[in-house]
Amino acid sequence: MNNITIIGGGNLGKSIISGLANSDLFEAKEITVVDKSKYNLKEVEENLGVHTSQEAVPAIKGAKWVILCVQPRQLAIVLEEIKEVLTADQILISTVTGTSIEEINAVVPTNKVVRVMPNTGASKQLSMTCIAANEDALVELAAVEKMFDTIGKTLVIEERMMQAATVLGASGTAFFLRFLRAMIQGGIQMGFHPEEAQIIAVQTGIGAATLVAENGTHPEREIDKVTTPRGCTIEGLNEMEHQGLSSSVIKGIMASFEKINTIK
Ligand SMILES: NC(=O)c1ccc[n+]([C@@H]2O[C@H](COP(=O)([O-])OP(=O)(O)OC[C@H]3O[C@@H](n4cnc5c(N)ncnc54)[C@H](OP(=O)(O)O)[C@@H]3O)[C@@H](O)[C@H]2O)c1
Repeated sequence: MNNITIIGGGNLGKSIISGLANSDLFEAKEITVVDKSKYNLKEVEENLGVHTSQEAVPAIKGAKWVILCVQPRQLAIVLEEIKEVLTADQILISTVTGTSIEEINAVVPTNKVVRVMPNTGASKQLSMTCIAANEDALVELAAVEKMFDTIGKTLVIEERMMQAATVLGASGTAFFLRFLRAMIQGGIQMGFHPEEAQIIAVQTGIGAATLVAENGTHPEREIDKVTTPRGCTIEGLNEMEHQGLSSSVIKGIMASFEKINTIK
């Protein structure tokens, strides 16, 4: 049995479904998506050939894995809905921000629970997924890692670091994209058409991140390689720092971290 049911086919759910359906690990017919929205279901059914259902209870029958991909405020309703039909051998994988394994186990005590924090890069098989399990579910970690390896990179962390992982890895997508937007705006101001500026900025971003990822270097080492003394790069970099670039990013991350600790 390798069936997987994903409850919640929204932004993240769709990304995970698309990544998993396009991987070698699952066939589309082994994946069932549950969502309240017919529109979301039609989209994944037509594009990916997965099964869909508007009802969670029948959809989890026979599933080995149940991925919870709903908003934090919707989780309690979903758990109440499925708790009577869940069997003890079904493994819950929760993407839900701010709800601990202990809190989930308080409702479904017999099920193993693994928490994951992927990001929307999952739809391009480029997610960063942090994974945490408690003692009870440690045995499932390798399988969950393998599953999420199909949609990008994984890192096993302690559960207490899950909030920080959400800020850095999930909200981080938005942080990078806002920087990318600023790069594009700068390009337009210098005279590029928006489409041209976007092509240049996006590819430069991919190249820069790949240098660090594949060379294993610190970003500053790669920065040094393009920074000629008294040249235009250092002029731009220093002006950005005078305007508070690093400081504002770190402060933004910490504001996000403070906020996430208040979300329930
Ligand atoms: N977006 C990210 O990058 C990201 C990254 C990591 C983790 N997360 C976490 O992942 C979870 C999902 O986020 P999201 O951005 O994908 O949210 P979302 O777009 O709101 O998707 C949630 C989906 O679940 C559906 N739903 C609600 N109650 C349901 C129920 N009882 N049965 C079946 N489906 C139900 C919702 O339908 P309605 O709209 O009709 O309510 C919605 O389509 C959140 O807990 C979030 O914290 C998100």
